[in-house]
Amino acid sequence: MTQDELFKILVAHCKEYGFIFPSSEIYDGLAAVYDYGQMGVELKNNIKRYWWEAMTRLNENVVGIDSCVFMHPKTWVASGHVSAFNDPLIDNKDSKKRYRADNLIEDFLGKIEEKIAKEVAKGRKKFGDAFDEAQFLATNPNVLREKAKYDEVHSRYLAAENANDLKAYRDIIIDCGIVCPISGTANWTEVRQFNLMFSTQGSTTGNADDVLYLRPETAQGIFVEYLNVQKTGRMKIPFGIAQIGKAFRNEIVARQFIFRMKEFEQMEMEFFCRPGTEMEWFASWKENRMKWHVNLGMGAENYRFHDHEKLAHYANAATDIEFNFPFGFKELEGIHSRTDFDLGNHQKLSGKKIQYFDPETGESYVPYCVETSIGVDRMFLAVLSHSYKVEELPGGDSRVVLGIPAPLAPVKVAILPLVKKDGLPEKAREVLDVLKYDFKCQYDEKDSIGKRYRRQDAIGTPFCVTIDNDTMTDGCVTVRDRDTMEQTRVAISELRAIIDSKVNMSNLLRNL
Ligand code: GAP
Repeated sequence: MTQDELFKILVAHCKEYGFIFPSSEIYDGLAAVYDYGQMGVELKNNIKRYWWEAMTRLNENVVGIDSCVFMHPKTWVASGHVSAFNDPLIDNKDSKKRYRADNLIEDFLGKIEEKIAKEVAKGRKKFGDAFDEAQFLATNPNVLREKAKYDEVHSRYLAAENANDLKAYRDIIIDCGIVCPISGTANWTEVRQFNLMFSTQGSTTGNADDVLYLRPETAQGIFVEYLNVQKTGRMKIPFGIAQIGKAFRNEIVARQFIFRMKEFEQMEMEFFCRPGTEMEWFASWKENRMKWHVNLGMGAENYRFHDHEKLAHYANAATDIEFNFPFGFKELEGIHSRTDFDLGNHQKLSGKKIQYFDPETGESYVPYCVETSIGVDRMFLAVLSHSYKVEELPGGDSRVVLGIPAPLAPVKVAILPLVKKDGLPEKAREVLDVLKYDFKCQYDEKDSIGKRYRRQDAIGTPFCVTIDNDTMTDGCVTVRDRDTMEQTRVAISELRAIIDSKVNMSNLLRNL
């Protein structure tokens, strides 16, 4: 199965089991907008909890806030979003479809990479154990031809990106013969800049020209509340402010399911520090955030840092934590050293003094800031895509199982009476009543036990507890482990501790 096919199956699985639905589907949906279903919301809440508690409980000097989606319009002038939060767009005149010019070029480069990977796979098949990949890559004529093409286009692309040269983007598209996937033609318009912010009316500033924007990042809510939090919380530098909330971007091209959405959620933390110390904090937060990811047990090899070659004008260091999604390594989280750009600009535009008096140095300054910013939805996609497995079982059977890290699983334990008679449902509900205060449980008495196990595997439930006739006399139940499928007979009184040992979020946090 190709990664592409696997991804389609994953999207279908998300819908079938109540994780994610296309928004307003009865009206044929809305591009790049998705709703979370009954399972999805549980997983999403658990991801948010893991982040929130790691940030605000484990770091004494990080506090949280919850600011609004709407902010004074000048916020977005100060942050640079009004003037510079743009994507380069191009239209195909025949299909009337609109694309991001940079994405068209990236896809073209991706196809060259795929061709090289196919050549390598052919070589490996042909030469077997004697295959030397490094030598093959350095000598095979087909690989060398594709590599030369890749390097040429890639360096032109980087130059266009660095110079923000819209004509250069178009020249690459034309020279590479990139065509519209719908019309198949290269009948392209010029490339234009397109601002990604959604706007609406209702400004209360009294200026008829003002518009209200739906925030494109949660970070600015933190910057404009910096003074309030610092003063009321008597915070001493260095300290951080964390926030989880919705952000909105008019992403023109719907790509890769919930990877790029118009309405999404961010978990952002702005860490304020003394100017000159920001590189130390940048390094420290890089390490901290990578540890948070790897701690989930989804394989350290599936993460990597990607340091930015081109820095935004306000940053003096930037890196992405990339995850190995089914469509390759892509950005999951961004870590930026944002200097004093945001607080400094808010100070200028608002006329309010945003300074910190440092008792240790006796100086006042605008603090510098290191930001960690991760999309909840991207994290959700990382967890789900890594967890989805089709396993062959002895006897020719197979099962679909979501090996979601247990503390994040939507349902922690399923309570299953073996049959719907002989008092077993009543006994099962007694067990449910014991467990439901500590764990998200699901009671299920419909269909054969095998089918019920499969349903729980498909939503990633770490434990199934089966109540049978013996339970009525010996007070024991069968506990089935999702990952090993091993079944153990245990006393009802032991259940809480057994389940807790695996699903407890505090244990996960303790390993950080
Ligand atoms: N405050 C910094 C900021 O917003 P960003 O790199 O534009 O930086 C941070 O976004 C994170 O938000 C990304 O790493 C990604 O996880 C998530 N994100 C950004 N745009 C998104 C979109 N359209 N859909 C889903 N997640 C998105």
